[in-house]
Order: sequence, then structure tokens, then C-alpha cells
Amino acid sequence: MAFLTVVFAVLCLSIRSVLGKAPESFTPLISSNVFGNVTGNTVVLLTPVCYFNDVTCPPEKCFVYLVAARDPAGSSNFDKDKSNSSILTLSPYPTAFSKPTSKNYFLTKMGPLENFMCINGSKPKNFRVGSDGNCSTPNCNGIFSTGLTGVRFKYVLINSTLTNKVISETGWSSPINLLSPKSFTSLNDGLGGRSPSMIAITVILSVLLFLLLLLLIVALVYGARHAPEPMPILGSLRIRRYNPHHMKDGVPQENSAFDGNMKNYTTAEVLPNVPGAIDHLGPQNAVTLKHYNNHEFPEDISQTT
Ligand SMILES: *[C@@H]1O[C@H](CO)[C@@H](O)[C@H](O)[C@H]1NC(C)=O
Ligand SMILES: *[C@@H]1O[C@H](CO)[C@@H](O)[C@H](O)[C@H]1NC(C)=O
Repeated sequence: MAFLTVVFAVLCLSIRSVLGKAPESFTPLISSNVFGNVTGNTVVLLTPVCYFNDVTCPPEKCFVYLVAARDPAGSSNFDKDKSNSSILTLSPYPTAFSKPTSKNYFLTKMGPLENFMCINGSKPKNFRVGSDGNCSTPNCNGIFSTGLTGVRFKYVLINSTLTNKVISETGWSSPINLLSPKSFTSLNDGLGGRSPSMIAITVILSVLLFLLLLLLIVALVYGARHAPEPMPILGSLRIRRYNPHHMKDGVPQENSAFDGNMKNYTTAEVLPNVPGAIDHLGPQNAVTLKHYNNHEFPEDISQTT
């Protein structure tokens, strides 16, 4: 037990000494206790609590900045520029990555050193890089363009009384790739990306559509089976030739519609000329037809009627 305590104490002491003497060996870390710690254009880092504890710097005059650089050139450009007293404005956020001449890094102010001192029980907090959106000042906390790759971070301590001299810094983080639009869609493609109500509505709509289709099919089949018999088309009663009896001096009328339709009518041209075809009927059944015009009835008939 005593041995374990000694080992623990030595471990704590060595960590303490590393923290105090050489913050360069520490690098910014992505927060693991927040959802969406890396998005398409933002990253959530753990704040550098305790990193600059042993640096001699008046806490209210010294400020912690985050440097965001895009490799390959960004991190080396910053390392070249960091002793320049204009370091805060040499590569302002709005043009940090967008131009061919861009230096591919920018600095974001995180706060005075006193906010990052190691007081009893101080724990790193979450800091979202990009929370100011697409902002316009040189050191604002701007978003990255979507899907930017090879982004590295480091924390620096700048003494504003010493013409913005970088007096301490951590190491660079390993390169971080932001999510590309493609990985966004693949993330949200499954059912997991949908809310339960959305799924419910989709299911209900699908079932309703299916029922509607089923009804349509049933109606079609039923309709085909029970279709009403087609109405017989009544041929009009057609008369080839008639006498206008109601007219005095009526002339027999020929229906010109029947020209060329002779074989349907019992005309001399159509009927075969069989001699004695009706002779077998005998004289008692023979009817003698006489052609009368309406106004020429014999005297005796007109008298009896
Ligand atoms: C700081 O940067 C500016 C702009 O690039 C440059 O003109 C100036 O010479 C630099 N100063 C030093 C000391 O390097
Ligand atoms: C910020 O806005 C400017 C102008 O609309 C645009 O050109 C630039 O791409 C935007 N930056 C980001 C990271 O969205």
C-alpha cells in the first residue's frame, strides 16, 4: 500500500513538472464528452486549463489564443510569423484560407490567462472553434469551410504589454479532418437519422397508399366482370319505296339511301327468276295484286268503306 502511494506521488510530481516546464509537449485535444465534437465546419476542443500555470506573465495582460492552421503550409507559416509583433493581424480570419496568397492560419482569442489558471479542481472546458460563424474580424472565432482537411491547432499565450509577443505555446495537434457533405448524408441516410414521428407518418402514408391501390385494383376487376351487356343497336326501320298516301297526286318516293344496296330487297334483279316459283300455291291462294293510287279506289269499295 505504501509502495503504491509512493508510485502515485511520483507520477503526480512528474506530470506536474511536465505541465509546468514544457507546455510545448501538450497539444490541444478534441473533446470526447460532447456530441458533434467534429462537424462539417466546427471542432470542439478542451480548453488549456493548467497549461500555462508556471509561465510568468501578468494574468490580466496575458491572453490565451487558439491558432488554427491548415497544413501543409499553415503551421509552418505561423511558426515563421510568431515573433512578428503584428502576429494578431498578419493572417486575419476572413482571408486566412480563401486566397492563393493566404497564410492558412488564424488566431482566435479565448480569454485572459486567469481564466485558464490551475485552481483547485479546475477542469478543462469545451471550446467550440467556429462558434462565431462566418465572422469578419481578424481574431473572431470563425467557422471553417465545409469539409476542410488537415486542420491543426495549438494554444499560444500572448503578452499584450510586450507588443503582442508570443511568450509560450503548446505543440500542434495532429491533423483533423472536418466532415465532408458526403459523410453527412451517409450519417443521416439510415432510419437512425429520422425522428420517430417522421417514421410513423411515412408508414401510415405508405399503408394508406397501398390500401388505395388495392381498392383500385378490386374496383377494376369487379367492373370488368359485371360490365353491363352492350345495348343492341337497333337498326332503323328502313323503307325503300313508299307512297305518300296522305297526299293527293302523291308520287311514289324512292329512298335514295338504298341505291347500291339492292340485294337486301326483293327486287326482280335480286330474286332468281324461277319460272312458276309461286305456281304451286294454286289459284285459291293466289292473290291478285292491283296497284291503286289512293284517290283511284273503285267505286264499289269506296262505297262500302
Ligand atoms: C512583420 O510582418 C510584416 C508584414 O508581413 C512585415 O512587413 C514586417 O517586416 C514583419 N516584422 C518583422 C520583425 O519580421
Ligand atoms: C464567408 O462568407 C464569404 C462571403 O459570403 C464567403 O466567400 C466565404 O466562403 C464564407 N466562408 C465560409 C467558411 O463559409
